[in-house]
Amino acid sequence: MTLILRTIPQVRAWRKGLPAGTRLGFVPTMGALHEGHMSLVALSKAQADRTIASIFVNPLQFGPNEDLSRYPRPLENDLALLEAAGVDALFLPAVEDLYPKDASTFVVEEQVSLPLCGAFRPGHFRGVATVVLKLFNIVAPDVAFFGQKDAQQCAVIARMVRDLDVPVEIVRGPTLREADGLAMSSRNIYLSPEDRAAAPAIHRSLVAAEAAFAAGERDAKRLVAVGRTVLAGEPRLKEQYWEARHPASLAPLVTVGPEGALLAVAAYLGTTRLIDNLVLGAG
Ligand code: PAJ
Repeated sequence: MTLILRTIPQVRAWRKGLPAGTRLGFVPTMGALHEGHMSLVALSKAQADRTIASIFVNPLQFGPNEDLSRYPRPLENDLALLEAAGVDALFLPAVEDLYPKDASTFVVEEQVSLPLCGAFRPGHFRGVATVVLKLFNIVAPDVAFFGQKDAQQCAVIARMVRDLDVPVEIVRGPTLREADGLAMSSRNIYLSPEDRAAAPAIHRSLVAAEAAFAAGERDAKRLVAVGRTVLAGEPRLKEQYWEARHPASLAPLVTVGPEGALLAVAAYLGTTRLIDNLVLGAG
């Protein structure tokens, strides 16, 4: 049985009641769970003694014109998935419990959160970092699992945990994809059939750049040009950014060096914004 914990004291009491030495794994989510989320649950089940997930559509990380109000909330289905996966507990906080009306303290990472999505979603990573630190403080996990699908989010959280001495290990899980390459996302359900058919061009653009890299191309601009050309070949897709950056610092790259590169894309299909990325290995 997955225990549903709705309040902060309930989570703290549950955590306290675990046998001494229990390694607690944590999978934070915003719900509308798919196989990508569930792969993180599976990692936690394999690497920890107990697993707790959270579902919280965090208002602080949505911009004023973003999809907070229409974000999917299929709670019954999510619960069934967590139950079937053997998750021990689910934290389902209310907005008012996590954010007192006069809350005035926030977590701002000032380097890796600036480029890519950070440049187009002001306040987004402040919202993510703040809620994730709060969840860590409430759940007190030994290890927490995040998807490489949101590579910049992983980088921001890793930096926050290091900089603020948060006693939690961060594990990244690989991006799960549909058969045609589209990265799984709770937002894919927004896509019309035509947009859904066009969406795999995002992944194809990354794979094309990866092929150029495999063929010996190390010039970041030329790799980006290869990817952009493929993306532009799908007229329904509107590029927001297509970039090559250092995989850890997210600093801009001129040449892909021994530490490899993060290739990262954001694109619109109608009003739906999708992101994807791929890491090029050492070269
Ligand atoms: P959400 O978008 O629900 O994602 C929860 C976790 O699932 C994140 O770590 C995300 O990277 C991972 N994930 C999403 N799609 C994936 C895929 N296709 N393959 C592998 N993992 C995938 O990310 C958030 O929620 C929020 O920002 C959160 C961290 C919960 C803070 O509010």
